[in-house]
Amino acid sequence: MPAIHIENLRRVFQTTTGVVRRARKEIVALDGVSLSVEPGELFGLLGPNGAGKTTLTKILATILLPTSGGATVLGHDVVKDTAKLRPRMGIVFGGERGLYWRLSGRDNVQYFADLYKVEPEAARKRVPALLELVGLKDRADERVEGYSRGMKQRLHIARGLVNDPEVVFLDEPTIGLDPVAARELRQVVRGLKDAGKTVFLTSHYMFEIDALCDRVAVLGKGKILTVDTPSALKRLVADLEVVEIECFGVDAATIARLRRHPRVDSVNIETREQTQVLQVQAPAGAELVQDFLRILDGVRVSKVVTRQPTLEDAYVKLVGKEAMQA
Ligand SMILES: Nc1ncnc2c1ncn2[C@@H]1O[C@H](COP(=O)(O)OP(=O)(O)OP(=O)(O)O)[C@@H](O)[C@H]1O
Ligand SMILES: [Mg+2]
Repeated sequence: MPAIHIENLRRVFQTTTGVVRRARKEIVALDGVSLSVEPGELFGLLGPNGAGKTTLTKILATILLPTSGGATVLGHDVVKDTAKLRPRMGIVFGGERGLYWRLSGRDNVQYFADLYKVEPEAARKRVPALLELVGLKDRADERVEGYSRGMKQRLHIARGLVNDPEVVFLDEPTIGLDPVAARELRQVVRGLKDAGKTVFLTSHYMFEIDALCDRVAVLGKGKILTVDTPSALKRLVADLEVVEIECFGVDAATIARLRRHPRVDSVNIETREQTQVLQVQAPAGAELVQDFLRILDGVRVSKVVTRQPTLEDAYVKLVGKEAMQA
């Protein structure tokens, strides 16, 4: 039996637009999603803003109802069997809400242990163990209001695990964290998998998905675009290489000429402070750098690097460039 099974799930939101003449509007957040996650799998859900990641996570976590279609978690229906399901799963949403700031970290976790009716005997061992797992052992008795963002986010994870869930939902757990804090948190997520739990993780960061996940689903506008391993996704772009050209003041006509080059697949432009970085996807081994520099004649070029394509390049290819910029 899969840990998570989703069949043709749809969720439509009704909203109104306009101020004077209000018009009803339907937003299709999930448009027929089907998916299966195996027990013990660390499964990633990737997609641009508004793709439907949070909506899907909330439905699976039984805090939002689907419009049609259905899903089971651990064999329990997410609409009908919530009472049986909730004690067996944990939910962690990124951000700082949902904690008691005037209480210590330890008291927060203890509070949720009581709320979830964890046996006092089990809680006595589990609360300190969780605080240690998320690296808050030494700061556990300080008030949460004095915690950094990363510490609060890690406390959220401890809170989400207090009922020793078999399935854990994490919605962008590393959002807003500095690189060090994010790395520590990823270590905790990896630990969940090592402990045999099924983990369903949403993220904006390709490298995070790449580093952590067994499989990944790419969601775009409420539809699953692909489900595969991170390395299979990378294979989508394996026959390409990316030439990154850092330059100043390149104009549209020059970029158009680059795009017209017969062996160029795509040109993506990233602006970093005063410089522009052109990411040119071209067939691997084509040795086109000289061609590109000729096209860029007169433009100040500060650096040229040829690199292997990453999961991010595959993602750009799948969801399209406009979604990437959203
Ligand atoms: N309560 C709501 N009322 C109306 N529309 C909603 C509501 N919740 C979500 N939506 C819409 O559903 C779509 C999917 O939203 P969702 O939050 O699931 O996306 P997401 O992939 O989590 O995005 P992000 O990466 O920004 O977190 C969006 O168009 C959003 O505006
Ligand atoms: Mg979201």
